[in-house]
Amino acid sequence: RGTAGPVADLAGRHVVISAGGTREPLDPVRFLGNRSSGKQGYALARTAVARGARVTLVAANSELADPAGADVIPVGTAVQLREAVLKAAEDADAVVMAAAVADFRPSHYAEGKIKKRDGEEPAPVELVRNPDVLAELSASRPRPGQIVVGFAAETDDVLANGRAKLARKGCDLLVVNEVGERKTFGSEANEAVVLAPDGSETPVPYGPKDDLADTVWDLVVRRFS
Ligand code: CTP
Ligand code: CA
Repeated sequence: RGTAGPVADLAGRHVVISAGGTREPLDPVRFLGNRSSGKQGYALARTAVARGARVTLVAANSELADPAGADVIPVGTAVQLREAVLKAAEDADAVVMAAAVADFRPSHYAEGKIKKRDGEEPAPVELVRNPDVLAELSASRPRPGQIVVGFAAETDDVLANGRAKLARKGCDLLVVNEVGERKTFGSEANEAVVLAPDGSETPVPYGPKDDLADTVWDLVVRRFS
């Protein structure tokens, strides 16, 4: 975008972004979590503010500073994230699910700290499924014309898995990253392909997460008109 500064092509739009990774508690001191830093979601929030949007950032356990100008809603678990995203999505023009949402949570929460006992094997951790927020949003579309975007990190058969996931979720765009050494988790840069149901593929070369974020907004804006 150079020195001219960003265009205000999201002015008058409300966008909702989920970021970070959910934590599913086992007891008051322990949780099941994941490695998401929140950087890609925060980049989406920052770039959307720069392009003139009203931004709601549903932030799951990220240590990053609140992006200036965004309305930040902190959440912990997948169930809390679902509630916050669905509420904010009611009047949103676009929803981007950049958060790593835990697929499962412990079926039982221990009110007191789980203790080990001499001579006793640990009890297995039983899990139950979490709600799929992206699939639910894509199916319900609380606001007509709303654009719903998902993210997927894959290790093998990246494009084939991405295509299948796009169809399964029913979203308008799916940003697929290959998880590799210098890519994705905690890094400052990302490389991805953005898939759409019309079969189009938009490759985004390895680069800053803000560049990938701007490409996502370019594709979203195109779908508004
Ligand atoms: N997602 C979600 N709710 C879940 C799980 C995932 O909204 N319970 C969203 C993520 O925020 C992301 C997209 O779905 O935008 C894809 O997440 P991913 O984990 O790749 O998809 P899954 O359907 O969980 O498939 P997998 O079995 O590969 O983890
Ligand atoms: Ca998953």
